[in-house]
Amino acid sequence: MASLSLSSKPSPTTSSLSTPNSRDLILRFQNPNSISFRSSLVSPSSIELNRTGCCALNAGRVRSRICASSTQVMDQSPSETSSGVPTIVEVDLGNRSYPIYIGSGILGQPELLQRHVHGKRVLVVTNNTVAPLYLDKVVDALTKGNPNVSVESVILPDGEKYKNMDVLMKVFDKAIESRLDRRCTFVALGGGVIGDMCGYAAASYLRGVNFIQIPTTVMAQVDSSVGGKTGINHRLGKNLIGAFYQPQCVLIDTDTLNTLPDRELASGLAEVIKYGLIRDAKFFEWQENNMQALMARDPDALAYAIKRSCENKAEVVSLDEKESGLRATLNLGHTFGHAIETGFGYGQWLHGEAVAAGMVMAVDMSYRLGWIDDSIVKRVRDILQRAKLPTAPPDTMTVEMFKAVMAVDKKVADGLLRLILLKGPLGSCVFTGDYDRKALDETLRAFSKS
Ligand SMILES: NC(=O)c1ccc[n+]([C@@H]2O[C@H](COP(=O)([O-])OP(=O)(O)OC[C@H]3O[C@@H](n4cnc5c(N)ncnc54)[C@H](O)[C@@H]3O)[C@@H](O)[C@H]2O)c1
Ligand SMILES: [Zn+2]
Repeated sequence: MASLSLSSKPSPTTSSLSTPNSRDLILRFQNPNSISFRSSLVSPSSIELNRTGCCALNAGRVRSRICASSTQVMDQSPSETSSGVPTIVEVDLGNRSYPIYIGSGILGQPELLQRHVHGKRVLVVTNNTVAPLYLDKVVDALTKGNPNVSVESVILPDGEKYKNMDVLMKVFDKAIESRLDRRCTFVALGGGVIGDMCGYAAASYLRGVNFIQIPTTVMAQVDSSVGGKTGINHRLGKNLIGAFYQPQCVLIDTDTLNTLPDRELASGLAEVIKYGLIRDAKFFEWQENNMQALMARDPDALAYAIKRSCENKAEVVSLDEKESGLRATLNLGHTFGHAIETGFGYGQWLHGEAVAAGMVMAVDMSYRLGWIDDSIVKRVRDILQRAKLPTAPPDTMTVEMFKAVMAVDKKVADGLLRLILLKGPLGSCVFTGDYDRKALDETLRAFSKS
């Protein structure tokens, strides 16, 4: 079995505050066909990622800069966002790089947004839940001191079931009726549904216009607004139509979470927990110590969790923008979770709830394979319970329902279902089709009716 180690020294220009970047990079690929990182991106059958390798990426490629005087370390809650000075996490994608601004009240800082608006015409895409809460604020931020800018808005119906081609047309209708030209900017204001739809509209309107994300759910702030995946659902499957299209910037005002329902908050935390499990044990430990604060919406705890999640996602996306390998690890628990979302009917369980149960199943399977010890199994259950997330699928799920959905999973290659599983100490995972089928069957049987 061939294995490859890559190492790179940190760039001298990188801030010493970028905690994980000060170590060398070691990525190991256990694929006999894989002779380099690039070739491993073609279609690796197995990628092994330990915490060092996954987190300590080339500091020159991934810069996460912290503005002003913030000096937080991993296991302390930060305080810089309370002062209104945003934290900036940079997504490094060459000439498509962009900043993620994170902070409390930063929608009240027009210059942050305005510096990323191209042209004089803006179209804000939002929905009928978020518009009454934040649309005026965003229009103010776009126009304050900037009378030459004119802002249109389109307000879509709220819900995953409207993430489709018919509703997307309303965005194009508005843009065309308003005679927006190539120099316009689309702004997504809302959760992941709005972000994905607006992004896809921006990718295809006049073959691509500028695009800004203002995510307002935890799910969107820690996951969907970062990394450029955009799209809509088809009646035969979720997110089947879409494009990779990166925004000009992501602006995360943590104050918008004050109006988010508790269940939506918890759903987003499932993705936060995921980052800890797949690549960041220290972050997982921080979450174990701070889950109560997160659930109580402590602004500093939330800001830190969002920042660390964005850093993790930015690092992965910078290395594998189009999901040829490494990026797939962000889908821990999602194969089982998708089966739950599909089998149980969309809308019954939120995405993060299904992912939480899916992560427990992936962890169970990893344990059955002998790849992790039982303390990790217990810690995963405990943290999810403390986040008030499910730790098992709904009891209507059958083995056959899981198998039917898993057979058409996007990660099936040459008839082989590749899964993200934990292997080794906390914070290490593999993306592999190389596992004992018996373990999968046992996990499915343990968590569902036969
Ligand atoms: N592109 C990606 O990489 C990616 C990653 C993960 C998820 N997603 C997609 O994201 C979607 C799920 O995102 P979501 O969980 O944000 O769901 P969502 O967009 O449906 O938002 C959840 C609910 O919260 C409401 N809401 C949003 N912000 C609010 C606020 N500040 N206050 C009060 N209510 C608010 C919304 O109107 C909605 O009712 C799915 O379609 C999923 O496919 C995409
Ligand atoms: Zn997800």
